[in-house]
Amino acid sequence: MEKLIVQGGHRLKGRVNISGSKNSALPILAATLLTRDTCTIRRVPDLSDTNYMLRILGELGAEVERASGVVVITAGKIKWKAPYELVRKMRASICVLGPLTGRLHKASVSLPGGCVIGDRPVDLHLRGLEALGAKVLVEGGDILVSATRAGFKGRVINMMGKHGPTVLGTGNVMMAATLAKGTTIIEGAAAEPEVEDLADFLIKMGAKIEGAGTNRVVIEGVKELHGAEHTVIPDRIEAGTFLVAGAMLGDGVTLKRVVPGHLRAVTSTLEACGFELESGRDSLTIRGNGSSRGFTLTTHPYPGFPTDMQAQFCALACAIPDSSTITETIFPQRFMHVAEIKRMGANVTLQGATAHIRGGAPLKGAPVMASDLRASAALVLAGLFAEGQTEVHRLYHIDRGYEHLDDKLAALGASLERARE
Ligand code: EPU
Repeated sequence: MEKLIVQGGHRLKGRVNISGSKNSALPILAATLLTRDTCTIRRVPDLSDTNYMLRILGELGAEVERASGVVVITAGKIKWKAPYELVRKMRASICVLGPLTGRLHKASVSLPGGCVIGDRPVDLHLRGLEALGAKVLVEGGDILVSATRAGFKGRVINMMGKHGPTVLGTGNVMMAATLAKGTTIIEGAAAEPEVEDLADFLIKMGAKIEGAGTNRVVIEGVKELHGAEHTVIPDRIEAGTFLVAGAMLGDGVTLKRVVPGHLRAVTSTLEACGFELESGRDSLTIRGNGSSRGFTLTTHPYPGFPTDMQAQFCALACAIPDSSTITETIFPQRFMHVAEIKRMGANVTLQGATAHIRGGAPLKGAPVMASDLRASAALVLAGLFAEGQTEVHRLYHIDRGYEHLDDKLAALGASLERARE
């Protein structure tokens, strides 16, 4: 296991290239199972999660080649079972359920287990597939889906859950519906850019989809899909994390290869705090500000403030000499970073799903434990800002979702290195 040793207090300046989106790449890679033809996916970030997805595709029978961000997949003859040993390490493995059901009308995928950011059921995924006429059974920890060719039909499905729409659930049902008979209408669909990116790839494969990126997606089933090429969109959460780093410590940090429109909720919150932002066609520049104000934010489905940026803004709030309030509505228990940041001297009080932060007190470096991907990012940000040395343990959480985070930060002037535990 590795840890990250961060020496705090170094200013950040310069340009950073943002990688392809993890949360787009994962369902897009799974979608290649929908055709026996070859698909080429570009700008796939080199992460343990994407590598894991490629391993799953390989085990299901697909041929996979990968060279520096370009992945070529041919899923000629595939199996319908993704057993526990294969899917247990990554919740996003559930993305293969929709494509296997769509193509083979039969799928068995292990039920994802618990998750540190809270209860993460898949009832909406299953409800969606049932609405398409599939029979769904959960037995011995596995989800078993079966349908007859004639009975697998489009319908109007409402996928809204009690915490809002589901991103991967919308993707799963959309992928399955591309090969169902007739028209499927998903009401209460997730409107995240990653869902739209998946739909763009499916359309290139021959699917008929309208409305992706809104809460109502219409899919006209087709007989079969064909091979296609696609470039994954930039990772808006990686971009947001670098914006926060630039806000906390920046003397001018420029993000290249981003879609500024995907980051509006994040950039407008930063602007409301008093940070100066400059937006180009595919770039964003942020400058630190000595006189920033506290903020109040609540996470919401897109285009609202993303839950995946909540922990990083908690670190930012510690650096602003004012009071800030953060409320989490998507995963109300997603506050594992709070106890660790408090060990660095942060003044944070948790009241249910709301964190009250009094910033401005100096943070002091400490050994801290990463618990999940975004909590780890928050600890790295806090470590960059703190006085002295911070050791972030369980670095593998970061490697799940940030491509070369340490190298990118070091290129901006941060002082940090990996070491074995
Ligand atoms: N939910 C249900 N039933 C379901 C599915 C979801 O009640 O069947 C609930 C969840 O418990 C949650 C809410 O609906 O309260 C939204 O969850 P969603 O299904 O949208 O989450 P996801 O699709 O499993 C993706 C991202 C997460 C991100 C969420 C929300 C991927 C691989 N993961 O998860 O990303 O937090 O959407 O935007 O796309 C991360 O990158 O660190 C990460 C956790």
